[in-house]
Amino acid sequence: MVCIRQATVDDLLAMQSCNLMCLPENYQMKYYFYHILSWPQLLYVAEDYNKKIVGYVLAKMEEESTECHGHITSLAVLRTHRKLGLATKLMNAAQQAMQEVFGAEYVSLHVRKSNRAAFHLYTETLGYKINDIEAKYYADSEDAYDMRKMLKAKPEKSGADSKNDGTKRVPVEKAGDRLSKDKDDTIRRPKTSSAEGVPTESLEKDHSKANIDIVVKETSAGRAG
Ligand SMILES: CC(C)(COP(=O)(O)OP(=O)(O)OC[C@H]1O[C@@H](n2cnc3c(N)ncnc32)[C@H](O)[C@@H]1OP(=O)(O)O)[C@@H](O)C(=O)NCCC(=O)NCCS
Repeated sequence: MVCIRQATVDDLLAMQSCNLMCLPENYQMKYYFYHILSWPQLLYVAEDYNKKIVGYVLAKMEEESTECHGHITSLAVLRTHRKLGLATKLMNAAQQAMQEVFGAEYVSLHVRKSNRAAFHLYTETLGYKINDIEAKYYADSEDAYDMRKMLKAKPEKSGADSKNDGTKRVPVEKAGDRLSKDKDDTIRRPKTSSAEGVPTESLEKDHSKANIDIVVKETSAGRAG
């Protein structure tokens, strides 16, 4: 059985380790802390029956923009646990919390043009659309699709509740104010034309027929979908 639940500080090392195994875009530990201290409702992990973290989503709210929107900083699932629907569930959990807790109008993300698996997940399964192409976005000069998905507007609360409802719509004081840009906090890797570190989806095992139960834990911050 694999459980999808909100991440805690104790999960951050395992999330970082999963990130290092799956993606060439890596972050210092302070960047994980920045996320969990600022938007604890937007970090989810997939945990197997042995309490091993096999996937995560790291997300945040964008505060520089005039529109209130969420952003997926990073998503990964270990090769051993792919094609089981875990990424879909992690993404749905983060998106739902963005909408319900922070009133996000839409969610954005970047994905490598060559990342077929992630592109399929975003476009076909989750309904993201290409908003723009950012040339040479990645350290190895690969272009990124800048993608967006509109979130359903949260119904307005009536009366006094609407302005001061105790939820965390107002941007929380940022734990890492100096850490403003994703790219500034990635651990820089030498530019390389090799495929080192880039997910090689053809090497994946296909677990699509595996019979594994996935449980999504509900939290007060937002139910995971
Ligand atoms: C991309 C990634 C997160 C998908 O995780 P996952 O748990 O296997 O995804 P899911 O099981 O939820 O699959 C979602 C959809 O994507 C599709 N998909 C998954 N892997 C695929 C692949 N290799 N090729 C084509 N489609 C793929 C699935 O078929 C599924 O589609 P469906 O809903 O029509 O069945 C995973 O492959 C991964 O960690 N890759 C390395 C890190 C990465 O690229 N992260 C994203 C950075 S932007």
